[in-house]
Amino acid sequence: MEHAFEWNETYSVGVDAMDDQHKGLFEIIRELYTAMRSGKGKEVAADVLRRLIDYTAAHFAAEEKLMAQKGYPALAVHQVEHKILIDKVLAFKKDFGAGTVSITPELMKFLQNWLTNHIQTVDRKYGAFMNANGSSLAKGTSAGAKSEA
Ligand code: FEO
Repeated sequence: MEHAFEWNETYSVGVDAMDDQHKGLFEIIRELYTAMRSGKGKEVAADVLRRLIDYTAAHFAAEEKLMAQKGYPALAVHQVEHKILIDKVLAFKKDFGAGTVSITPELMKFLQNWLTNHIQTVDRKYGAFMNANGSSLAKGTSAGAKSEA
């Protein structure tokens, strides 16, 4: 399953700054996967999970800001998708913190589906919009939202 958390060009949304942030997301999810596989302590998993949530929240905010700046027409729908995803991870974190669940293959499957379905379909649409509309943030430029959360 580990290869499922490697960024490759099929995940490119056509906006370099957002691709960079997505790569960071893959890295943290890989860490989580490694923590799960190696049976690392709950503290390690909790730390990685916390970073995943923080990074994701920062990424979603940066993405939404970019879409708003560029007048992306499907911003509201995209924001709903983000809220659903973050709510699911927050619910998981709550259960994890309460000790009722652990990092499971099911969680990793959810994250994998998130990456493939959200980035490769929903995110890619704004990339197509920005490239079609000559955005200065489109692929091949270095401008854009900060890549570190
Ligand atoms: Fe890259 Fe819409 O999350």
